[in-house]
Amino acid sequence: MQLANRRCLQARASGTCRRVSRARVAVVKAVKTADGPRVAVVGVTGAVGQEFLTVLKERNFPYSNMKLLASARSAGQKQEFEGHTYTVEELTENSFKDVDIALFSAGGSISKKFGPIAVKDGAIVVDNSSAFRMTEGVPLVIPEVNPEAMSHIKVGKGGAIIANPNCSTIIALMAVTPLHRVATVKRMCVSTYQAASGAGAAAMEELRQQTRDVLDGKPAQPKIFPLQYAFNLFSHNSGMDVELGYNEEEMKLVKETRKIWNFESVRITATCVRVPVMRAHAESINLEFEKDISEAEALEALAAFPGVSIINDRQNNRFPTPLDATTKDNVFVGRVRRDISRDDKKGLDLFVCGDQIKKGAALNAVQIAELLL
Ligand SMILES: NC(=O)c1ccc[n+]([C@@H]2O[C@H](COP(=O)([O-])OP(=O)(O)OC[C@H]3O[C@@H](n4cnc5c(N)ncnc54)[C@H](OP(=O)(O)O)[C@@H]3O)[C@@H](O)[C@H]2O)c1
Repeated sequence: MQLANRRCLQARASGTCRRVSRARVAVVKAVKTADGPRVAVVGVTGAVGQEFLTVLKERNFPYSNMKLLASARSAGQKQEFEGHTYTVEELTENSFKDVDIALFSAGGSISKKFGPIAVKDGAIVVDNSSAFRMTEGVPLVIPEVNPEAMSHIKVGKGGAIIANPNCSTIIALMAVTPLHRVATVKRMCVSTYQAASGAGAAAMEELRQQTRDVLDGKPAQPKIFPLQYAFNLFSHNSGMDVELGYNEEEMKLVKETRKIWNFESVRITATCVRVPVMRAHAESINLEFEKDISEAEALEALAAFPGVSIINDRQNNRFPTPLDATTKDNVFVGRVRRDISRDDKKGLDLFVCGDQIKKGAALNAVQIAELLL
């Protein structure tokens, strides 16, 4: 690959590339090139898998070969990508013999079984599931935040696994890391408003169907979620630690933040809630800092951080919404305000929205893949 192109891909992963504008990125195609890596998308028929294809195209990702993998249910399906018709193949133990980068989004059990097989065959796995996030030695990376954690892993230097953080963690840390760098976060309290898309394509269809049914006067029929989703909200559907009273989604925010920041002593609490929004999560975040930080300093740090957009118009009561973030690369931040419950100047509140299929999953993973080149 040409050096200029490689440098730009690396700079784009960390948000500093000036060579390719956002507007241009939206229309360019991925580059099929003889010296590009051989890429596999595992779980290509799912919500994240489909987004992988969109993001690879949008970001002009170079590849010499593309392999699309899913379960036996989807094997033989046709999938258009870059003007070619690909046939979806069944994921098997022999799928990775000719693969350099494998983008996994087929669930934790598939990652646990096939991730090590791919690594043995020399592929670098970028994994969207939670299977390896807390495994020692596996980098957990948000390219704008901690790219150094994976600097030893490159295409051509052997197989490895890199974990993509949980979507709520990515969205929170895109907003909070620039402030952490200014004043050091001591304690973070997060309340999430999470969309259907976070639970995959079938959950999105459940929200659509239940909404139609309820409007037609029919009973809603829960299948993916245990409770009625349309016109309702409920505590996140991940497994609950009955002793502690926290669910897995909440504990991911706690544990993953500590690993990504390499900062074990940061105190975090979270309440994660599923809301009937189709796509893009929202999070209300209260922060306590070691040092004073003003609203102006916070807004300045946020404005300078790659991948963050600010919507903070108090006069017009206009702040980020999930629809602002839907299909967008950036995380949107607003309601930046001093925490008036404190007597010092060490507290801020924020409201954050991000598309969790995009920055919370596929985009973050493709940015990681760019750093591998
Ligand atoms: N949705 C999000 O926003 C999000 C964000 C971050 C991380 N993630 C993670 O990404 C993963 C996928 O999520 P999703 O939302 O895309 O789910 P999804 O829409 O339900 O898609 C699941 C994908 O996995 C494939 N799959 C299932 N069983 C398989 C098997 N035995 N062998 C090969 N492929 C298999 C499915 O293929 P078939 O169509 O053939 O069944 C489908 O392509 C999960 O680990 C999830 O936690 C999702």
